[in-house]
Amino acid sequence: MDSEIKKIENMDGFKDMRIVDNFYQTSSFFPMPTIEISTIDENGFTNIGSYSLCFPYYIAGKEYYAMVLECRNSSNTCKNLLKTGKCALNFLPDDKKYFKETVRLGFPGDTPEEKMKNCSYTLVDGKRARENKDEKYPKIVKEAYQVFECTWVKELDGAENDKVQEEYKGPYHNFNGITSEFGAHFILKIDNILMKEKYYNTIINGVNSGGFPNVPVDYGYRDSKNFWYTKFKRPIAMPIPKNKGVGLDSVKYAAGRIDPEVKFTDEACEMLVKVPRPFLNLVLKGCVSWAKENNVTLITPKEMEIINDKRAKEKNK
Ligand SMILES: Cc1cc2nc3c(=O)[nH]c(=O)nc-3n(C[C@H](O)[C@H](O)[C@H](O)COP(=O)(O)O)c2cc1C
Repeated sequence: MDSEIKKIENMDGFKDMRIVDNFYQTSSFFPMPTIEISTIDENGFTNIGSYSLCFPYYIAGKEYYAMVLECRNSSNTCKNLLKTGKCALNFLPDDKKYFKETVRLGFPGDTPEEKMKNCSYTLVDGKRARENKDEKYPKIVKEAYQVFECTWVKELDGAENDKVQEEYKGPYHNFNGITSEFGAHFILKIDNILMKEKYYNTIINGVNSGGFPNVPVDYGYRDSKNFWYTKFKRPIAMPIPKNKGVGLDSVKYAAGRIDPEVKFTDEACEMLVKVPRPFLNLVLKGCVSWAKENNVTLITPKEMEIINDKRAKEKNK
């Protein structure tokens, strides 16, 4: 009996933690991104608020890709999203001076004008603002390594009539718009992902550990005094188990991102499953340059055969 009780208390080294409000930072260690969210009010004035609870929501199989943001419903960001529905998620690299500014912009109570007066980031137009001169969009932060330009999908969960109020009395939505007395969730459709050139090249040409941006990890507000974050360290690669080499899925994944105009059918991808991983991008690029020379935008097994014949002939030469 005694040993049973001990076992429950001990649980192989685990203790049962009390789950309280904001459990991700009060009852656990949850690694989070730091994102500076820019939004605009009805006059087009850009405000920036700091957010960590912002994650991928629709990642495949829907007509669009989306993020979800969890935020305080009295924040400037929430008010602006309810009013204009447009935002940009600015991901800043690991740098103490940026994190200091992140914490300053994460302090509740100031109006957008008060906050932005001394903002140390460089604000520039994003892709949407450059393409639609007649419309107003939030500025983006030039120092970011990547920016997601997003639009709130207000129709989801029937949130299209949610308006800014002094107090939110309910009824509340489940997952979009005003979701509780103090909280809001926003499903944000991703319109554009803007990426600095070095990291763009890492994604297109193949990853290597030197090609990652410096991404800080936020652990939230912990001791009623500080926000805690860890500095970036070089990422390491862990190979997948042997015999699980280049499967069809990974060929499809690489083929889907090699070029915005040239696409591969699944059957064409199947013909590349035997290509050793280190050469896959090179081979795909060869296919793309053949396709461009020949005005082809969809590579099927027929085109693959032409490309293979051409390659075999070149080898024989
Ligand atoms: C690193 C960091 C992460 C934060 N993450 C969140 C979050 O995910 N959700 C939230 O409601 N508040 C978060 N906050 C607090 C908001 O930044 C704070 O409410 C701020 O007033 C929002 O600015 P705004 O009113 O201009 O939107 C965070 C603060 C910091 C410093």
